[in-house]
Amino acid sequence: MDRWKGRVALVTGASVGIGAAIAKSLVQHGMKVVGCARNVEQIEKLAAECVSSGFSGTLIPYKCDLSVEDDMLSMFSWIKVQHQGVDVCINNAGLALPEPLLSGKTSGWRTMMDVNVIGLSVCTREAYQSMKERNIDDGHIININSMSGHRLVNNADIHFYTASKYAVTALTEGLRQELREAKTHIRATCISPGLVETEFAYRLLSKNQEKAAATYKSIKCLQAADIANAVVYVLSAPPHVQIGDIQMRPVEQLT
Ligand SMILES: NC(=O)c1ccc[n+]([C@@H]2O[C@H](COP(=O)([O-])OP(=O)(O)OC[C@H]3O[C@@H](n4cnc5c(N)ncnc54)[C@H](OP(=O)(O)O)[C@@H]3O)[C@@H](O)[C@H]2O)c1
Repeated sequence: MDRWKGRVALVTGASVGIGAAIAKSLVQHGMKVVGCARNVEQIEKLAAECVSSGFSGTLIPYKCDLSVEDDMLSMFSWIKVQHQGVDVCINNAGLALPEPLLSGKTSGWRTMMDVNVIGLSVCTREAYQSMKERNIDDGHIININSMSGHRLVNNADIHFYTASKYAVTALTEGLRQELREAKTHIRATCISPGLVETEFAYRLLSKNQEKAAATYKSIKCLQAADIANAVVYVLSAPPHVQIGDIQMRPVEQLT
């Protein structure tokens, strides 16, 4: 990770869960991390923790709603002025809403597409343009996908979410191909976890918190730090190694 010291990473959805763990880990490895989400106060708390832990990097909180394009464009302009640009982009923010295909609300489907697919794509494009204008040829774009980007489980609450994650699988490979055609050495990777113990299920099942808690008690889940370790592994790979996708499940997870 030495070559990343002092360089700029954007981590979306850095307020809690997997994004918070990734942001913390990259700061520990000496990176300058812009962490964004709507609940910026939680990122401010995390930044203070990083300072008191004596980590060599810095965490810079930024308030951004990833379903709003103007918010994202303003964030990239601000990064350009304050920190030159983005060298690493971790598209982590995402959500599932319980909106089945036969009865779900269109607004819920739109929110999932806006954040999980469009927000991720806007940040990817802007991060690439930021690298290109500064002649950064060793940048990395990492999408936090899901096992739901690779197979569909029989649970109507997450069918639409699954479709949004299948899109992330296609977007990551499409990005890899466009980066090759553009003759850059910038890399594109996705990490596809199974069940990770975060706020995710509590937000999905906001009307049934007991069911959410039971989900995480059903097996020994992955922890957010496990995904952060995978990000560090991906960023540490030698420059000629392009990791496409890492699928990681809890050992006890069947599907
Ligand atoms: N937990 C799992 O089992 C699991 C498994 C596979 C994949 N994943 C994926 O991992 C990623 C992170 O999930 P997690 O488990 O860490 O979930 P989480 O604990 O619910 O955190 C979700 C993060 O996304 C952010 N976010 C959601 N909507 C946003 C918006 N409109 N604008 C800005 N930020 C937004 C949230 O920030 P604010 O609410 O503060 O804005 C939060 O930081 C997601 O892409 C998810 O699909 C999770």
